[in-house]
Amino acid sequence: MEITKTDRIFLSDYKPSDYKIDDVFLTFKLHPSKTIVISKMTIVPIKKSNLFLNGIKLKLKDVKINGSSSISLTKVHDEGISFEASDLPDKAFSIEITTEINPQANTSLEGLYLSNGMYCTQCEAEGFRKITYYLDRPDIMAKFKVRVESKHPTKLSNGNQIDEGEGWAVWDDPWPKPSYLFALVAGDLLSFDDYFVTRSGKEVVLKIWVRKEDINKCAFAMDALKRSMLWDEVNYGREYDLSIFQIVAVDDFNMGAMENKGLNIFNSKYVLASPETATDNDYKLIEGIIAHEYFHNWTGNRITCRDWFQLSLKEGLTVFRDQQFSADQRGSGIKRINDVIQLRNRQFEEDNGPLSHPVRPSEYKEINNFYTATIYEKGAELINMLHKLVGPKAYKETLDLYFERHDGEACTIEDWIKVFEDNNEIDLKQFKLWYEQAGTPIVTVQESFKNSQYTLKLKQTLNNKNNEPMLIPISVGLLNKKGEEVLETNLLTLSEREQEFTFNNIKTKPIPSILRDFSAPVIINYKTTDEQNAFLLQYDTNEFNKWEAGQKLARSSIIQTILEGKPIDGLFANSIKKVISNKSLEPGYKAVLLKLPTQDSLTDDLIKLGETPDPLEIHKALIKTEIGCAEILKDDFVKLFKELKTMNNQSSDMADSGKRDLHSALLKLNTYNDGGELAFSRYNQAKSMTDLQSAFISLMTTDFRKEIISKFYDTWKHDKLVIDKWFSLQSINCDPQYALESAIDLSMHQDFNYKNPNRFRSLIGSFCAGNPAGFHVISGKGYKFAADWIIKQDKINPQTAARLCAVFQSWKKYDKTRQNT
Ligand code: BES
Ligand code: ZN
Repeated sequence: MEITKTDRIFLSDYKPSDYKIDDVFLTFKLHPSKTIVISKMTIVPIKKSNLFLNGIKLKLKDVKINGSSSISLTKVHDEGISFEASDLPDKAFSIEITTEINPQANTSLEGLYLSNGMYCTQCEAEGFRKITYYLDRPDIMAKFKVRVESKHPTKLSNGNQIDEGEGWAVWDDPWPKPSYLFALVAGDLLSFDDYFVTRSGKEVVLKIWVRKEDINKCAFAMDALKRSMLWDEVNYGREYDLSIFQIVAVDDFNMGAMENKGLNIFNSKYVLASPETATDNDYKLIEGIIAHEYFHNWTGNRITCRDWFQLSLKEGLTVFRDQQFSADQRGSGIKRINDVIQLRNRQFEEDNGPLSHPVRPSEYKEINNFYTATIYEKGAELINMLHKLVGPKAYKETLDLYFERHDGEACTIEDWIKVFEDNNEIDLKQFKLWYEQAGTPIVTVQESFKNSQYTLKLKQTLNNKNNEPMLIPISVGLLNKKGEEVLETNLLTLSEREQEFTFNNIKTKPIPSILRDFSAPVIINYKTTDEQNAFLLQYDTNEFNKWEAGQKLARSSIIQTILEGKPIDGLFANSIKKVISNKSLEPGYKAVLLKLPTQDSLTDDLIKLGETPDPLEIHKALIKTEIGCAEILKDDFVKLFKELKTMNNQSSDMADSGKRDLHSALLKLNTYNDGGELAFSRYNQAKSMTDLQSAFISLMTTDFRKEIISKFYDTWKHDKLVIDKWFSLQSINCDPQYALESAIDLSMHQDFNYKNPNRFRSLIGSFCAGNPAGFHVISGKGYKFAADWIIKQDKINPQTAARLCAVFQSWKKYDKTRQNT
């Protein structure tokens, strides 16, 4: 029996519960500081033992077992209440527990809390225990009925509303669910309504609940929701299973959004959008997150996790599904590139440091700190590999079997693997190591060519010597010297530590294109020349590898700039000019190709060369390279801008978003030639937030900076989400020399409110993660600034504080001076 929280929790300690809960009827008498919660449950004993119910910071008022007062039998502990086995009935019994909680004092934004006077809940992972005493673990699945009493007009919970009266409403969710999917909302809200007819002809009412003034910012989210519902029917055969689906937008929210059954709760940032206030990127994020939370209805809710070690079972799979969805909606090449940039930035970084852990960990201290890039992004990569290994058709059949076999259950990674083994008659014992072994494998490539035979020798190295070799799918294509593809994409499966793959009938020594589409989350160690990279940038047919080659070429040029002070490399400059004038490339893809490598990737390159990276030097080299690019493209700008002039300026129009991306990239470069004149005039004519933001960013390093910062503020000071951008864009784009000073000033601005997680992240998070040269400033004062804010935040909202700690993952890479303050 758990009485005090143990230090660490182990997967190997998992035991099924001795009690189950069949149904629960919750009554909430909402009050800002004294909310009464009455929970009436049917508990079924499975094995005679003491009963412990989780509960934190609850005021216990009353307990009744089978109708008779039992408070004297209840033992109260710090983190729950318990009952002796001998005091409990042997058969199913009812227990009614009354507690009092204080939503107004709840600054952790976990459990029941208030956001601008509106009641809302966040229960994943272990927030339900801050609402009432319960078996708060995901393998306890019960039917919930909820009565909400409040004077607020809007009163919502999961499922269908079955009854209402003056000051109360009753909701019923027919699907058994774990407590982490419970939700309640009460406030003065309006709903943006629509409907969806499922493929079997059922009509589903769709509602997005927002404040009155935001009602005209819901159309895009609604459209994304309907597209998600259709997509899941077409691609996974998954139909929605209630007659209503609701989304609520909340301003104070720790995360992006939450998949509560039938009542998703969203950070307002990922719902509200209008062309005037949201950028193309915001639209993309909204679409992806709406899809993600909706997809959880099957991968997470209908099939849930047995325990929190299995988190990637729902998160990895759902991220993979939302990635597939976005790729279908907007094009797969660019989507894959952006997903890999994010994976390398966050997950590779994590796996390379002290927080490295497997996709299915075997122990944890605080589950909230385990919602990591490894569980999410690497987890999604594992599904991507399975998809590649069995092929799309077998993948679909396997998922059908997964849903059929496990619907209504709380599952494990083993269950998931077994479905793939059974459906495809394969042994995935080796593949399962991906779930158990931490670290990023390195695959070293050696090639040889003789008598029309081309051989690739692949060797895998794992960061821990005791690790066993993994099963790694590696997509390879071969090109000849003329740039023709002599071997189309082939999937090699590397399963030994060292293995050779031979290709026959290859006439001349080919140029390999390795790890196409980033077929596995590994690091490829293969020395390539600048010439080879320039060649692949021009000829590779794989959009991902074409981009990758361009990045390598850029990195090589920038490293020369850092180490030898050389200006932009000639071959690189030439390639850029070719890319820009290539008529067969989409504008959006050109924008991606033009984007320079991240500060992090250059840092790692320098470390590999045995150099101590200096963030400011890297930054300077990046600027020098941009200046070089601007110079090279100087004569093309007029023509390029003219070509892009016909674009539609509305962010909600997806077709032209690539053109707008390219326009922004060019506008920034052009600033080096005209001092910002064009960007300034664009700012003044801007018709959408995409236009406005790209001009704003361009002007951050020009003499227009001060003027534009105050102009932006004056126009938008009434709109919270836009002012978040104002904080964030300044922090990221400020010259690193003044970035810390500027961040400190901004932290004293009247609109800076660290209690709102979005505002906190828009200043502190953006500065630390988005302005590396400013954050890692030599004095070490950037670290102190971050640490002070993390400590302050930790006192009110530990989850938001903890998430910011990730910015400290990289500080060991730099020299000692910065660390010693
Ligand atoms: N289930 C999570 C939300 C969550 C995360 C609750 C951590 C409690 C702790 C949700 O499905 C999710 O993954 N949200 C992501 C966005 C998503 C698109 C990856 C988030 O909030 O960042
Ligand atoms: Zn999720």
